Amino acid sequence: MQLNPCIFLLPKPPRLFIWNYKSHEQFEIDNAHASRLIELIEKISIFDENHPIDAALLEAGILVDQPLPPNDWQWDDLSKIFHVGTKDLGSGDAAQNTRQWAEHYFNHCQEVISRHAPPPHPLAHLHRENMLCLPAPLADEAIDERNGFRQALLQRKTCRSYLDKAVSLNDVSTLLYLCLGYLKERETDTSELIPVMFRARRSSPSGGGLNASEGYLYAYNVQGLDPGIYYYHPDAYALTLLSRLKEPLGSLLQGQHFVDNIPFGIFITSRLDKMWWKYRHSQAYRVSLLEIGHISQTLQLCATSLGLKTWLTAALSESKIEKYLNLNDLSEQVFLFVGAGYSNGEAFCEELRSLLNKNNKN
Ligand SMILES: Cc1cc2nc3c(=O)[nH]c(=O)nc-3n(C[C@H](O)[C@H](O)[C@H](O)COP(=O)(O)O)c2cc1C
Repeated sequence: MQLNPCIFLLPKPPRLFIWNYKSHEQFEIDNAHASRLIELIEKISIFDENHPIDAALLEAGILVDQPLPPNDWQWDDLSKIFHVGTKDLGSGDAAQNTRQWAEHYFNHCQEVISRHAPPPHPLAHLHRENMLCLPAPLADEAIDERNGFRQALLQRKTCRSYLDKAVSLNDVSTLLYLCLGYLKERETDTSELIPVMFRARRSSPSGGGLNASEGYLYAYNVQGLDPGIYYYHPDAYALTLLSRLKEPLGSLLQGQHFVDNIPFGIFITSRLDKMWWKYRHSQAYRVSLLEIGHISQTLQLCATSLGLKTWLTAALSESKIEKYLNLNDLSEQVFLFVGAGYSNGEAFCEELRSLLNKNNKN
């Protein structure tokens, strides 16, 4: 007999829950069950099949009397709970054929739309005259002349040393439009069958068509733009200034000061409230992360095709960044920063390179 390793206890005063994160089952337990469980945790040999609580714990799978697979997860328990706890979910498995799947998905969408939709972004109500309108994105030829798609794939590289050379607002505007803007070119490529609120399309795919990802421009050395952090309106192709820069970028990125002079970058957030609205289970948290990954790669390839070098990080000092981005609650969270600028192409910053050189000589 042993304790199921895939459980945790969750106090929600005045109640206590025991959660089997692998089977996705939760049980509320009372004092008697909790006390007996602690006794069993301390000494499993006291298990008594005739004890009603022991029998109930076995029946519920909190205790198991079969051999368990070895624990081959090598990170902490928190990541294991998240990963295992968001696996094998979703009633889509129940469909035996496309008709059944379509019926299920249709019903799901009907149910979602009947619920109160999350509000638009807090800045979405602004009129264009109150926004900082960006120049039109560059024409195809202007980008292709610099760098074709194949070259962009081959030349994308994480660089950690940047030149103090400003990037043009045209390039920033082009990048924002092509990677985060709702594409005008795709407005006619839609279907009447899709509800209006799900019709906007970006160059990257979007989980559930929600466009839950948002972009915030960090501008440090962009021609014609005051340094600061701006919200990018994906439908108006314009900016709203949120905050001036009060500290070097590295202080927001866990001390990675080698990018303090990177000319600009984009903080990518996810509107988790949109995900909560359409998808009720935390499996959708994965979708948020994956969507950001798609946008990030598109940003890097696009920046490369504009002749820039890129750098990215998920090592964020989130609470500090949230203040600059005006994120006041958990409904929208920041996950990634993708920076770009002119670079000598160095993968290492000077300081690290000199340490590595010294080490190699020894
Ligand atoms: C999700 C993610 C997070 C990353 N975080 C950092 C980071 O915090 N700091 C950094 O210098 N590089 C970071 N990188 C960049 C990687 O170190 C880099 O992509 C890797 O060394 C391969 O080099 P390449 O991009 O030039 O091909 C990150 C990359 C990814 C995909």
